[in-house]
Amino acid sequence: MFTIYFIFGFVKQQHQLMKFFSLKSLLFLFIFSTGFAQQNDKPQDFLKKEFHTERRAQLRAKLPKNSVAVVFANPVRNRANDVDFVYHQDPNFYYLTGYREPNALVFIFKENQTIGNKTFNEVIFVQERNEHAEMWNGKRLGVAGAQDELGFRVAYNGGEFKSFELNFSKFDKILFENFKNDVRDTDESADLYDLIKVFKEKVSFDLIHLNNPTNDKLYNETKKRIDTKTLQKLMTNLREIKTKEELVLLKKAIEISAIGQLEMMKAMHPNMSETEAQGVHEFVYKKYGAEFEGYPSIVGAGNNGCILHYIENNKTNVGDNNLILMDLGAEYRGYTADVTRTIPTNGKFSTEQKLIYDLVYEAQEAGIAAYKIGVDMQEPNHIARKIINKGLAELGIIANENSKHNYFPHGTSHHIGLDVHDPGNYEKFEENMVVTMEPGIYIPIGSPCDEKWWGIGVRIEDDILVTKNGPVNLSVLAPRKSEEIEAAMQLPSVLSDFKLPVLD
Ligand code: GLY
Ligand code: MN
Ligand code: MN
Repeated sequence: MFTIYFIFGFVKQQHQLMKFFSLKSLLFLFIFSTGFAQQNDKPQDFLKKEFHTERRAQLRAKLPKNSVAVVFANPVRNRANDVDFVYHQDPNFYYLTGYREPNALVFIFKENQTIGNKTFNEVIFVQERNEHAEMWNGKRLGVAGAQDELGFRVAYNGGEFKSFELNFSKFDKILFENFKNDVRDTDESADLYDLIKVFKEKVSFDLIHLNNPTNDKLYNETKKRIDTKTLQKLMTNLREIKTKEELVLLKKAIEISAIGQLEMMKAMHPNMSETEAQGVHEFVYKKYGAEFEGYPSIVGAGNNGCILHYIENNKTNVGDNNLILMDLGAEYRGYTADVTRTIPTNGKFSTEQKLIYDLVYEAQEAGIAAYKIGVDMQEPNHIARKIINKGLAELGIIANENSKHNYFPHGTSHHIGLDVHDPGNYEKFEENMVVTMEPGIYIPIGSPCDEKWWGIGVRIEDDILVTKNGPVNLSVLAPRKSEEIEAAMQLPSVLSDFKLPVLD
C-alpha cells in the first residue's frame, strides 16, 4: 500500500521535480548512489586512514635523526600448483598503512625529502591497477586509492620504484626487518620479489649480506647505515599498547570468539566429531562478520587435548567421557582473539576431570589478579605455576611441589592484537595492553602417574585488558567455572534441529 502511494506520489510530482533535475543530473545521481551502495555493502569498521597516518607519525617521532624506516608487504604464499593461500598482510605493514594487498612497500622518513617539485616524509609503492588481473581477482586500490582511501599524499606504482630518485647513501640509518625467506618471483610485474631486488641494489645490501668487502669504505659505511634490528623494537613499543580504535576491534574479536565457545557448549554431544565442533565455532565467527580464524583452530578430545598445538581436529567421535580442549580465535578486521575452553563431552565433569579443571581455574584466577599496571609480566606465570605444582603434589600426580614435571610445559601470558602472538617487551604491565592468561595441565596416556588421570588435558585461556582499575576479562561471555560450563551445556542449541540427510 505504502509502495503504491509512493510510486503514484512520485509520478505526480515528477513534472515538478524535472524543473530541478535534468535527465543528465538524475542519471548522475543514480550512478553515484549505486556506486555508493556498492561501497557500503562492505564492512565499514576497518581502522580509518587517520589511525594509520597517526601511527606513522608515532613511528617517525621514534626514528633516529637522518633515517628512514622501510616496511614491506607480506609475500603471496603458494598452497599448491596454481592456487595460493588467502592473502594476509604483514601486521606491521597493515598497522602503518591499512593496505591489504600484496606487492607493496612503504618508506617513512624522519625528515622531509624533496625530489623535483615534491616534498614528502612518507611514500608508498602499491600494486598497479590492471584490468585483466582485476577481472580475475578483484579490485585493486592503485595509486589513486592509496591517496584517497589510505591517505598517502605521495604514492606510486611498484613499477616506478626502480626510477625513484632517492639517494639512500645520504641516510645515517636505513631501518628495516630481515627479508622473509619465502618470497617468490611470480608472473606479476613489480611483485615483492622485484621490489626487494631493486631495494637491495639501491642500498647496496648484497655487499653486507655477502660479507664481501671489496671496497672497504663503501662496505663500512653501508654496514653502519643498514640496521635490521631497531625497527622491530620500535614497532613493538608501538604495538604492545593498544589504542582506543584497536580496542574496539579486539574486543569485538574476543566477544565473537567467546560466543563461539558458548554456542559450542550448548551444541556439544558425544557423537560429534572434532571437525564438526571446530565448524560450530568458525560458523559463529562468520555469522558475526569475522573474516578469518586468527590462527589454526585447535580442537582436541581426550588424549588429543594433551597435544599443545593439535590442529588435525579429525577424531570422528569425541567420545562419551572425554574432555575436549578448544583453543580458537576469530580475526575481526585484522585483530585476533585467543580463547580456550575445555569442556566434558557428555556435559558433566568426572571426578578426576573436575579436580584437574578446578586446579587450572584456581591458577588462572590467581594469575589474572596480577594483571595490574606496574606488575612484572612474568608474575602471573609464577603464581599459576606455584598453585599447579602444589595441586599436582596434593593429588599425588607428582611426588612433591618441587618435582620436575612436564604437565605444564608452556607460559601463561602473551600479547594479542594483529598477531595472535603480538610483539611485546614483556617487562611490566601497562595500561591498554591485552594479554592472555592461559595455564594448563596435560597428562597424556603413559604419563608416570595413576592411569585414572591419563588423557586429561585442560587449558583455560582468557584475554585480559590491563586498566587503571585493574584487570578486565574481555572473554567473560564464555562460561569458565566448571559449574557454569555444566549449566551452559544444558541449554538448548540452535543446532540441535539441524539435521542433514545421511550419506553413505
Ligand atoms: N592459540 C595459541 C596460544 O594459545 O598461544
Ligand atoms: Mn594463547
Ligand atoms: Mn590459544
